Amino acid sequence: MSLRLAVLASGRGSNLRTILEHISSGRLRAEVCLALSNNPEAGALAHATEFGVPCWAKSHTEFANRAEFDAAMLAEIKKAGAEAVVLAGYMRLISPEFLQAFPGRVLNIHPALLPSFPGLHGGRDAVDYGVRISGCTVHFVEEDMDRGPIIIQAAVPLLAHEEESDLMGRIHALEHRIYPQAIQWLAEGRLRSEGRAVHLLPPAADKTVRTVEEKGCLISPPMEDF
Ligand code: GRF
Repeated sequence: MSLRLAVLASGRGSNLRTILEHISSGRLRAEVCLALSNNPEAGALAHATEFGVPCWAKSHTEFANRAEFDAAMLAEIKKAGAEAVVLAGYMRLISPEFLQAFPGRVLNIHPALLPSFPGLHGGRDAVDYGVRISGCTVHFVEEDMDRGPIIIQAAVPLLAHEEESDLMGRIHALEHRIYPQAIQWLAEGRLRSEGRAVHLLPPAADKTVRTVEEKGCLISPPMEDF
């Protein structure tokens, strides 16, 4: 059985595309049953359509407030039968009512090493601050922005004379590796939260997994050859 996902995206949608590619190639045992956006112009919608995924897109400005917009999304997500929600460059806060409908089943990816540099421009803020190591984080979503329990992080050093855009490109490429992995762990039922800690449970008894060696970055927990 594959995990049914609703994916929310506001922008270009490269993470959504990567998830769809992992599903098509059979690596990720999930299914995107609906792609949603608050931006009808989002590139993410074209990726979803290319892969035959139904889309729902409406500008949040058409709604009286966040609660009403989120309630409209939630109704569509429930109708589509999603079991978990993946935020892939969704640039808005999620209302408490929405989160209550999917407890421990909403994931987000952030382009910095949380809890440092939360917020909409976390990746750029880290570079502007002058960090020597940055990276990306997949975490469960809670009401406080970018504060939910951390599932997996990837760290990379800033290279000598590296431009911000090059570093952000390397971080983006890492996002495309760790997000499908985190979703696969969720699909396998291997993520167990205990307070702020997220434990990765061993694979099913009939399954052997090999961890993958990394070059030029540090990923924890280690990626598996899934
Ligand atoms: C990524 O950098 C992600 O970390 C952040 O939004 C960006 C989305 O990129 N939350 P894309 O639209 O998936 O290319």
